[in-house]
Amino acid sequence: MKNNISLKNAVLIVIVVVLILAAAWYLRSLKKGAKESAAPRFDAVVASDIHFISPDINDKGEMFQRLLSGRDAKTSLYCEELTDSFLNEVIERKPEVLILTGDLAFNGALQSHKDLAGRLKKVEDAGITVLVLPGNHDVYCGNAAIFHGDSYDLTESATSESFKEIYADFGYNEALSVDEMSASYMYDLNETTRVLMLDANTAEHPCEIAPSTLKWMKRQLKRAKNDGKYILAGIHQNLLVHNEMFVNGYVISNSDEVAAQLRKYGVKLTLTGHMHNQNFVTLDGISDLASSALSVYPCQYGILKAEGTTIEYETAEVNVKGVDFDFKEFASRCMDRMSNPQRERFIEDGMDEETMEPLLKLFGDVNRMYFSGDMTHFDDLLNTDIMSEYLSVEGNHNMYIDLIAKESGKDFRRFTIDTK
Ligand SMILES: [Fe+2]
Repeated sequence: MKNNISLKNAVLIVIVVVLILAAAWYLRSLKKGAKESAAPRFDAVVASDIHFISPDINDKGEMFQRLLSGRDAKTSLYCEELTDSFLNEVIERKPEVLILTGDLAFNGALQSHKDLAGRLKKVEDAGITVLVLPGNHDVYCGNAAIFHGDSYDLTESATSESFKEIYADFGYNEALSVDEMSASYMYDLNETTRVLMLDANTAEHPCEIAPSTLKWMKRQLKRAKNDGKYILAGIHQNLLVHNEMFVNGYVISNSDEVAAQLRKYGVKLTLTGHMHNQNFVTLDGISDLASSALSVYPCQYGILKAEGTTIEYETAEVNVKGVDFDFKEFASRCMDRMSNPQRERFIEDGMDEETMEPLLKLFGDVNRMYFSGDMTHFDDLLNTDIMSEYLSVEGNHNMYIDLIAKESGKDFRRFTIDTK
């Protein structure tokens, strides 16, 4: 009897040990599974800073033209033709998703957002997911205006809440989670990838990911990691510094904290915009792609594809239809407006036209290269007599040129990153 009991106890002990070991193995495999994200696979078109203004609130008259003519490089006089041509190209390309990283509107007017949302519907109707984010020119804009003739009237700007309503079909309605305190959301794109769209343009925390949104973001990142998903992030303002002259008001003010959290959960790439120039920078394993403004020369967007262990990116310029002139040449001339404040200063200083024009043309060429992201031939500009002459004129943009000269030889219009 005693032997029987001992044998039963021994069998029981063995069973318990086996169960404990099995449970430990199961928990370990679960934990291991949570840590390993899937290799991302997606096919996206990415664009930023469309700055669309509805023709319902803009007669393109004297006031609107005067507003642009100061130093604004945007091609907004033809924003309908540009936007429609772009969206038609997206439909032809048939990506899985179109990601727009803010500044959808010219000046935040509700009517511009409603009009653009109507145009984006055609993209969704073609079976392409559209994801949007508010930029600083989309919400809480005190200068939202209706332009008529030589005058304008202020009009209602979108808010975070109305932005979410107008663009409900472009991210918010089908999001896995929407942050209550901002227009941030997490979108489950496919079986491998989630897109985290972060709103840095709330009324209380402009150019910052608000503290409550940061908490929400951490929960979303953790959840995605547990579900084995790769995360692609979008923000309007930049995550990293691209140019030391574009920090305050350009890079989100809590960028270190946000970048640390994103890195912790394996995010390798953020899609941003805002500066209007094309640039790409990597810091401690995370890369920030600043898309140039679609509305500014050379009016380009990006094609972003992930397959296996790499993400590849390349830009394409919009072939603008519906105009009877060379749109790229027009956009190039719009870029020259950035030289207008210098022109005025040169005139004030009594510089003659013959001296002035080559200097202004040079500054235009500098901007065309820098904004397009094609710095491959920048040395050709640097090593000219006219550049030496430009840099010798007091009060010119020498610091700006010195900083962007560091990018000489680079091509920000294409890159490949490793997802592991
Ligand atoms: Fe913008």
